[in-house]
Amino acid sequence: MPRSPVKRPPADLDLSRALRTVEQLPETLTSQSLFGNDHPLEIEIGSGKGLFLSREALEHPETNFVGVEIMAKYARHTAARLARAGVGNAIAISGNAEPLLEKRIPAGSLQAVHIYFPDPWWKKRHRRRRVVNETSIRNIARLLAPGGRFHFWTDVLEYFEQAVEMIAVTAPELGVPIPEEEIEASHDLDYRTHFERRSRKHQIPVYRVRYQTRSDASRSCRRVAT
Ligand SMILES: C[S@@+](CC[C@H](N)C(=O)[O-])C[C@H]1O[C@@H](n2cnc3c(N)ncnc32)[C@H](O)[C@@H]1O
Repeated sequence: MPRSPVKRPPADLDLSRALRTVEQLPETLTSQSLFGNDHPLEIEIGSGKGLFLSREALEHPETNFVGVEIMAKYARHTAARLARAGVGNAIAISGNAEPLLEKRIPAGSLQAVHIYFPDPWWKKRHRRRRVVNETSIRNIARLLAPGGRFHFWTDVLEYFEQAVEMIAVTAPELGVPIPEEEIEASHDLDYRTHFERRSRKHQIPVYRVRYQTRSDASRSCRRVAT
């Protein structure tokens, strides 16, 4: 299904607070380095047009949100959405999430990682391009704080099943998969992401799961003890 086009934001809209390229980022990404406070930090990988990011940021002003989007025009669109809404606790990063997860975020520092409707890469030879892969799963497990959450939704059953199996083997410390219910919509336009809207409109089933690490300190204690 082709993606709907996005308009370039007006030139006079100030995106300097809401948009960063990878080159403009501090070396280490934390709430302090990005927002100048110590609020919990959540990251969305593949934030698309930024609906989830802007909604969550407005609903949770006590949490900081970062959306990483590899397509510059979508990152810009998200930043424009944040700027227009006057959101101060979220930014859009224009770039590839993978090296950021690998090297730029301190272990145990994220309250949540969100991945919604990642590109399916249908062809078998392209599957290694999927954003949920062994490396990203290991990184997500390493980066989550105690009690941290990993949310994963997709409309591709095979991707879902493969990811759940991969997580069980690669990162058992993420715990058991917790089925996540669709949040009850109050009206037709009440959806969390643009792809959720598309799935609903075309009556495509969505598979949703959440993982949550243990909230006690035993994960790190165990590591020290062995
Ligand atoms: C199918 S769209 C879903 C967008 C949004 N999450 C939603 O549900 O509406 C997947 C998005 O992930 C982005 N993406 C793919 N690989 C990425 C990567 N390595 N880093 C950041 N974004 C990525 C794509 O450009 C695309 O916008």
